[in-house]
Amino acid sequence: MNFQLKNKFQEVQEDVLVIGVPEHPENVEGWDAFHTYYHSNLQQWMKNGDIDTKHKKIATFPAFDGHSFKKLVFVGLGKAKELNEEKVRTVFAEVGKQLHQLKASSIAIWTAPFTNEQLTCEDIAFLAAEGIGLGGYRFQDYKTSSNEQDMHIEKITFLSSASEDELKAAFEVGVVSADAVNKARSLVNTPPNLLTAKEMASYARGLAEKYDFEIEVLGKKEMEELGMGAILAVNQGSVEEPQLIVLKYAGTDEWEEVIGLVGKGITYDTGGYSLKPREGMVGMKGDMGGAAAVLGAMKMIGETRPEKNVLAVIASTDNMISGEAFKPDDVITSLSGKTIEVLNTDAEGRLVLADAVTYALQSGANYLVDVATLTGGVIVALGNDKTGALTNNEAFFEEFMHAATETGEFVWRLPLTENDKKRIRKSEVADLNNSPGRDGHMIFGGGFVGEFAGDTPWIHLDIAGTSDASAAHELGPKGATGVMVRTLATLVERMAATKA
Ligand code: BES
Ligand code: ZN
Ligand code: ZN
Repeated sequence: MNFQLKNKFQEVQEDVLVIGVPEHPENVEGWDAFHTYYHSNLQQWMKNGDIDTKHKKIATFPAFDGHSFKKLVFVGLGKAKELNEEKVRTVFAEVGKQLHQLKASSIAIWTAPFTNEQLTCEDIAFLAAEGIGLGGYRFQDYKTSSNEQDMHIEKITFLSSASEDELKAAFEVGVVSADAVNKARSLVNTPPNLLTAKEMASYARGLAEKYDFEIEVLGKKEMEELGMGAILAVNQGSVEEPQLIVLKYAGTDEWEEVIGLVGKGITYDTGGYSLKPREGMVGMKGDMGGAAAVLGAMKMIGETRPEKNVLAVIASTDNMISGEAFKPDDVITSLSGKTIEVLNTDAEGRLVLADAVTYALQSGANYLVDVATLTGGVIVALGNDKTGALTNNEAFFEEFMHAATETGEFVWRLPLTENDKKRIRKSEVADLNNSPGRDGHMIFGGGFVGEFAGDTPWIHLDIAGTSDASAAHELGPKGATGVMVRTLATLVERMAATKA
């Protein structure tokens, strides 16, 4: 998407002109001029109630004589005073969905109606690019008869009096943000026969090349040499080689103050011998949503280049069955040296994350965030629209929550008590067990990963509910959401800014 700035309605030649309409449009500076220019029709539409000023309500009108655009899209903004980043983002996502339907390739946006005391024209340029990019996303499917064309907006023109450089810079961050989220969405939406661990590694190699990250990919042999018994156990029943994908972004001269982002990259989760029921298995191609979130965040970080070191560690394999597969009652030794009694092979995410977290610590991480579609328990606790969190560090979590608030991604923290830890550590034969019970098992899943973080500030994010949407939602279509990409990238940016 390219950026352009214009000053007058008379100059608009794009396919679609987008006009935000707050409850009292007459208060918008310049509304008179706009009104006069489109006089005849506009007044009629407003009077008929064809234009709705309620938040996100869209009204599309055809071209009319004397104007070069093909469609005029009005979008309701509600009360001007109540507009905030989140509301403007969702407004533009709605516009993005509409533009997808209209198959528009160039659009013009008049910024003034979207601004208020808290929102500048630059904010609007950022949110427009991000919102339209997110709302307009569609996964390119595999139907041979498919004729649905991907939306491709080549140009967004802003009608604004703001400085071109600043507007353009804000716009570009929005484009990059939506692209990063959409890439994560596409990884999650890709079928499991096409997205194997090796394929994921090859995507990471592409990122490394493009953004000059250091990359290291450990295969089965390297894992055996290092003693990564946990990820190897999960991989045991598979014909696909496991991959531990490590990306390093050096934002400062020294490799210190490193933020470790650790992702669960199970490319398919059958449950293993603790087999999932057939209804529970469909959709498990999305069990690498955490890995996708980390890769998406790395893409964004590669573009925005904050002054902070970031280490991404992704543990990838599928969880399959064969004569060689691991089984309940097995005892395995993790990279950390801690032994684990396997009570449930379907609790595999925490196992691969255990080795990934240990590897991140060995590679110098001073902060850890792990992201995973870890448990059905988080869905029972919080529903499908909230990411569940655990932490061992109040200050780090507070910083993280600022980032989540900024991006509008809802996160809710659950407790992790000494009693929970006791149950994770309860085993007759090993240091830990991987499935203490179904009561509050989101906490056991995340808490298990926390056992490997030790005292390093750590946040666990369970995105089992939020990674995949069963229906279209405010920021995009049914399917993968790309949740946490923006929040992780924003966290890194905030920590770079505060030099935390
Ligand atoms: N990948 C699943 C969790 C999941 C469930 C993700 C639903 C997305 C949607 C995970 O590996 C799993 O199977 N967890 C079990 C853990 C249990 C065996 C302790 C679960 O949540 O039931
Ligand atoms: Zn599982
Ligand atoms: Zn899983």
